[in-house]
Amino acid sequence: MISGMSILAEAVAALREWQHDDAPVQLHPGDLGWFWRAGAQATAAAVRTWRRDGRIVAVGLLDEPDLLRLTVAPDALRDEELARQLAEDLAHGVLPPGEVSLEAPPGALVRDLLAEDGWRAGEAWTPLVRDLTEPVADPGLRIEVIGPEQAPVWAGVLRASFDGSTFTEQRWHAMAAGAPFADARCLLAHHQGTAVAAVAVWSAGPGRRGLLEPMGVHRDHRHHGHGRAITLAAAAALRELGSSSALVCTPSTNVAAVATYRSAGFRQLPQRRDLHRDA
Ligand SMILES: CC(C)(COP(=O)(O)OP(=O)(O)OC[C@H]1O[C@@H](n2cnc3c(N)ncnc32)[C@H](O)[C@@H]1OP(=O)(O)O)[C@@H](O)C(=O)NCCC(=O)NCCS
Repeated sequence: MISGMSILAEAVAALREWQHDDAPVQLHPGDLGWFWRAGAQATAAAVRTWRRDGRIVAVGLLDEPDLLRLTVAPDALRDEELARQLAEDLAHGVLPPGEVSLEAPPGALVRDLLAEDGWRAGEAWTPLVRDLTEPVADPGLRIEVIGPEQAPVWAGVLRASFDGSTFTEQRWHAMAAGAPFADARCLLAHHQGTAVAAVAVWSAGPGRRGLLEPMGVHRDHRHHGHGRAITLAAAAALRELGSSSALVCTPSTNVAAVATYRSAGFRQLPQRRDLHRDA
């Protein structure tokens, strides 16, 4: 387990380095940080790394047993040897046999190899980014950066935001114990004394792209501008942490989320597709 944990730390460090405003949208250290709610051991068990000359050049996160979120170092996106190795490993062992999905950065050679091998376009995602050079408008609600004492409230708002969410205070503590959380903030938005919206933001260090994951508005408090407000607060928090831009990625079918991010000044990037292998 010690080696699993040190690989995890190395993977987080590699992901931090790969977050640039002009790089393709990548798996972010915050994605590992959010997964960490399942605990350090589960996170270590879900992470896969590929190396060249000792250096990590690709990182995968098994977000679900049949979904790998894969990312490649920006300077290795078209590396043929790596792409062939990835394709081989995806066919044998990294993913279970049968129907599976893969997220991989646009432009990565492994996508072309898998397409030749019969993988087809899967779920559509919409990435959105917001530049953080200029100050962010005031969200107009009271925003609180929460600590452990407010974890039950933050967890409650999240559960009330996402259908089927199993998020708990305990999961918040597991997440907060993770390495990426050192660069994260959890925010609550309050309206007339009630916590109505929650977000977590993850910096990858100054001058790099930060991530929003997750963001939600309590289902009893929607359509009052609170989604826009918590998103503006998230952008401001990332700016304070030194992020150069803010990124969020949502299923393209989530029209409310896309509208909310746009309304908070995010720019929609071209849609991207997962790759899907049929059974
Ligand atoms: C998406 C979500 C945060 C929106 O919250 P909200 O408080 O209702 O949003 P707001 O009132 O701030 O609305 C923001 C914008 O989105 C639009 N919008 C909100 N819900 C919408 C819907 N169902 N369909 C279309 N547009 C919608 C609003 O019209 C508004 O646009 P405008 O500023 O151009 O007028 C909320 O529905 C939610 O928590 N959903 C579940 C969790 C989720 O999907 N989170 C995002 C995952 S990445």
